[in-house]
Amino acid sequence: MHYERDNIHRMHGYQWGEQPKDAGTIKLNTNENPYPPAPDVRAALGRFDVDVLRTYPQPTADGLRDRLAALHGVSREQLIITHGGDEALRLAITTFVDPGAGFGMADPSYSLYPVLSEIQDARSVSVPLDPHWQLPGDFAARLNAAGVRLTCIVNPHAPSGTLLGRETLGTLAAELDGVLLIDEAYVDFVDPALGHDLAPLTRELDNVLLLRTFSKGYSLAGLRLGYLIGAPSLIDPLISKTRDSYNIDAVSQALGAAAIDARAYAADTWARVRADRSTLHRALGQLGFSIPPSETNFLLARVPTSARLSAAELQQALKTRGILVRHFAVPGLDDRLRITIGTPEQNARLLDALTTLMTDSA
Ligand SMILES: Cc1ncc(COP(=O)(O)O)c(C=O)c1O
Repeated sequence: MHYERDNIHRMHGYQWGEQPKDAGTIKLNTNENPYPPAPDVRAALGRFDVDVLRTYPQPTADGLRDRLAALHGVSREQLIITHGGDEALRLAITTFVDPGAGFGMADPSYSLYPVLSEIQDARSVSVPLDPHWQLPGDFAARLNAAGVRLTCIVNPHAPSGTLLGRETLGTLAAELDGVLLIDEAYVDFVDPALGHDLAPLTRELDNVLLLRTFSKGYSLAGLRLGYLIGAPSLIDPLISKTRDSYNIDAVSQALGAAAIDARAYAADTWARVRADRSTLHRALGQLGFSIPPSETNFLLARVPTSARLSAAELQQALKTRGILVRHFAVPGLDDRLRITIGTPEQNARLLDALTTLMTDSA
C-alpha cells in the first residue's frame, strides 16, 4: 500500500555528491568553485536588514533580472530567476512536457535529468554521444520521431568538459520540434578568447532556453540561485504560471545582485581556474591519463589501461587520503575519474597522491 503516485513510488531520487565530514578533506567531486564568494557578497550579507524578512520578497526578483538583462543584452521579459539551476530544469519539464510525452537528452549528461523526467511521468529519450562526446548527425531526427517536447543539452558538456559552438546548437534548435534547453551551468569557465555567447540565439529562435547558475562561476552553490534566458513567449508561462509564488527569497535577491555587481572578482576566479585546468591537464597527461579538452572547471580523466589500479580503486584510494573525486560506475565512464579543478595547493596534493598510487609497486 502506498499513497504516492505510481511513478513516484517506482522511481529513485537524485543521488547527490558525497559531502565530506571533516573540513580538511579536499573536495574535488561536485564541481564547485574552489575560491570564496566575492568580498562584496560577504559585505552585502553583513548589511542585510533582517526586518526586510517580515514581508514577502519582490515576486519576480526584478532587480536581479534587470542586472542580468544588461549583462546578456536581452530584455527583462527574457529572464526568469530560479532557485538554483535545478529549479529551472524542473520548471521547464513541468511547463513543456506532458506526462507520457518525450523528454530528450544526450547520454551521458546530468544525472538529474532522468529523475525530473520520472517525477513528471515523462518518457526519457536518451541518445548516446559519439566517442568524442559529439551529438550524432541524426540526433534531432531521433528526438522528433520519439515525440520529444523538451531536450536538455549540457554545454559545455558534463562530464566530458567539451564545448559545442553556436552554429551547431542553432542548427539543432531549428531542427527540433520541441524546446531546446542548453544547460550552461559551466559556461563561465569557457575561455573568453573563443567569444562563445549563445544569448543571441534566444533572440533569433523562439524555442531556445539557456540555463545559468550562480553555483559554480560565482562560488554560491549554497545560496541556490540560477536563471533561464529565452524568448518572452517561453519565459512568460514559467514566470506567471508554473513557478512558486515567491521563488527567490530576499537574501538571495540581495546577494545575487551583489555577486553580479562584483562580477570582475568572479571573472578573476574563472581565469585562475582556467590556468590551473591547463596545468592539471598537462600533469595528468604525464601520468598517462587521457583527457578531452575541457572548457569547464573539471577534467574527465581516463585511467591508462596499464595502471595498477582501476578508476574505482583509484577513487577509493584517493578518498582514504582525504581527496574526493567522482567516479561513475556506468558503461563508457567507469574507466574515468571526473576531477574538479581545485586551488593550486589542492591540485598539487591530488597529483602527489596520484603519482604515488600510479607508480607505487607495493
Ligand atoms: C549540468 C548541470 N546543470 C545544472 C546544475 C544545477 O546547478 P544548481 O542547481 O546548483 O544551480 C548542475 C549542478 O551540478 C549541473 O552539473
